[in-house]
Amino acid sequence: MLEIDNVTMRFGGLKAVKDVSLTVAAGDLAGLIGPNGAGKTTLFNVVCGQLRPSAGRVLFEGRDVTGWKPHRSIRLGLGRTFQITRPFGRLSLLDNVVIGAMCREKSLDRARQAALGRLAQVGLADRAQDTAQNLPLGLRKKLELARILATRPRMLLLDEVMGGLGPREIEEMSRTISQIHGEGVSIVLIEHVMPAVMSLCQRIAVINHGELIAVGSPQDIRADRRVIKAYLGESVAGDSPGGQGSAAASQTAAQAAAQATTASSATEA
Ligand SMILES: Nc1ncnc2c1ncn2[C@@H]1O[C@H](COP(=O)(O)OP(=O)(O)OP(=O)(O)O)[C@@H](O)[C@H]1O
Ligand SMILES: [Mg+2]
Repeated sequence: MLEIDNVTMRFGGLKAVKDVSLTVAAGDLAGLIGPNGAGKTTLFNVVCGQLRPSAGRVLFEGRDVTGWKPHRSIRLGLGRTFQITRPFGRLSLLDNVVIGAMCREKSLDRARQAALGRLAQVGLADRAQDTAQNLPLGLRKKLELARILATRPRMLLLDEVMGGLGPREIEEMSRTISQIHGEGVSIVLIEHVMPAVMSLCQRIAVINHGELIAVGSPQDIRADRRVIKAYLGESVAGDSPGGQGSAAASQTAAQAAAQATTASSATEA
């Protein structure tokens, strides 16, 4: 469904993404992980047209969409959320989502109905009339998700929708993501919250210093020496070799991963 073909992205002398090739099949729920500054968001920016790659191509459902402006790829059904959300602060949550819905609905009434449905889906129905200004982080992440869902994506790229959330909010967000996937939307998620990535994703790609260093099942990734060295840390692998450990061991691994995660994300705003 999505084919990233030998993509390189340079910023001056810095190669933020180096010759990455990756495919995502229809129906996938895939993870994209790696340390801070690895090039994950840059790759999303290339796929969704925020950036034109220095080299390589992006194909969506067989069509070359390299360098397409975001409003065009959204119409094709390729949607993404932003790591740093910027809602229209003076507008209500409803109107923020209506803007997304207008991409599909010509009638304002229908767009409102669709937007209300999406707010309900992410658990924000009761706040539809609040203004988006000063919204706590957890609710901003939900709003960001509702906004892009209203554009009716067939593939959704999620950039750290769990970043900065508490355990309960992470659980809620995981459930929402599963439900969206269950509706037939293909998903790629960038996330540092390892327990959630490991339990949600069927396949995980790892990038480090702009290079794709591994692609595989959560079990493969947990056991991959390069991934352990670059990102996950020894404790995760030690507690659950190959992901085949007991439930208790997996839980410990998950907790360790969450801690490793906090360390690796410590520089984030
Ligand atoms: N527009 C830009 N101009 C110059 N350098 C950039 C630009 N965007 C990203 N970079 C650099 O490219 C590298 C990759 O950044 P990117 O934001 O893609 O990392 P990331 O994997 O998403 O990290 P994080 O987990 O912290 O979000 C970093 O060194 C970053 O400073
Ligand atoms: Mg990022």
